[in-house]
Amino acid sequence: MVTGLLARAWWDRLRGRLEPRPYPFEHAALLESPLRQLFASPRRVFAALDLKPAERVLEIGAGIGYYSLEATRRIGSSGRLICLDIQWEMLVEARRRLRAAGSESAEFVQASAEYLPFASGSFDHVILVTVLGEIPDRSQTLREIRRVLRPGGRLSVSEQLPDPDFVAPDTLRRQLRAAGFVEEATRKQFPLAYTSTWHVGK
Ligand SMILES: C[S@@+](CC[C@H](N)C(=O)[O-])C[C@H]1O[C@@H](n2cnc3c(N)ncnc32)[C@H](O)[C@@H]1O
Repeated sequence: MVTGLLARAWWDRLRGRLEPRPYPFEHAALLESPLRQLFASPRRVFAALDLKPAERVLEIGAGIGYYSLEATRRIGSSGRLICLDIQWEMLVEARRRLRAAGSESAEFVQASAEYLPFASGSFDHVILVTVLGEIPDRSQTLREIRRVLRPGGRLSVSEQLPDPDFVAPDTLRRQLRAAGFVEEATRKQFPLAYTSTWHVGK
């Protein structure tokens, strides 16, 4: 069933008809597939992000929280993680997992990335893992991310295949530069993923 979903989405992509839309909750199991664990495990992806203790972090499109627990481990009990997602069911599952693992430093907010319900300069770091390609208005989203980051705050994006919404590194580079971000590093996580870290330009 999941293979069928992927095949259909790739067929749409190849025909230029893939609509940006949220990944369906009923296929959430694929978000923790063994392939992901091998090439894009939370430890592996977050090793590239350099999250620091006590940081205020916004994870946009947190899904079922596959990466969120690693984020809370890295920022520690003095840090704050906000898991934001457009789908409430995803957040319910993320909260269940984090609470089961004993993590208390996360909050859960249902909203669209295009209109972030936070004051300007609220965060040290914003993270998106396999989310950007699902958002219809990417320019508006990048403006919002820039607004909610503090001066010098950081933005990290991880993209992974075979996600049909995969954003290629060159496209990401062009769009983030246009939105006023400055690249720090882009690491290929061979052979299926990359993670790119940026900061707000002056
Ligand atoms: C492919 S899943 C990835 C989930 C998680 N980041 C991971 O890597 O396991 C994409 C997530 O982004 C969320 N999403 C899609 N469009 C969104 C939007 N406009 N605003 C907020 N979240 C969105 C979806 O609901 C879904 O949970």
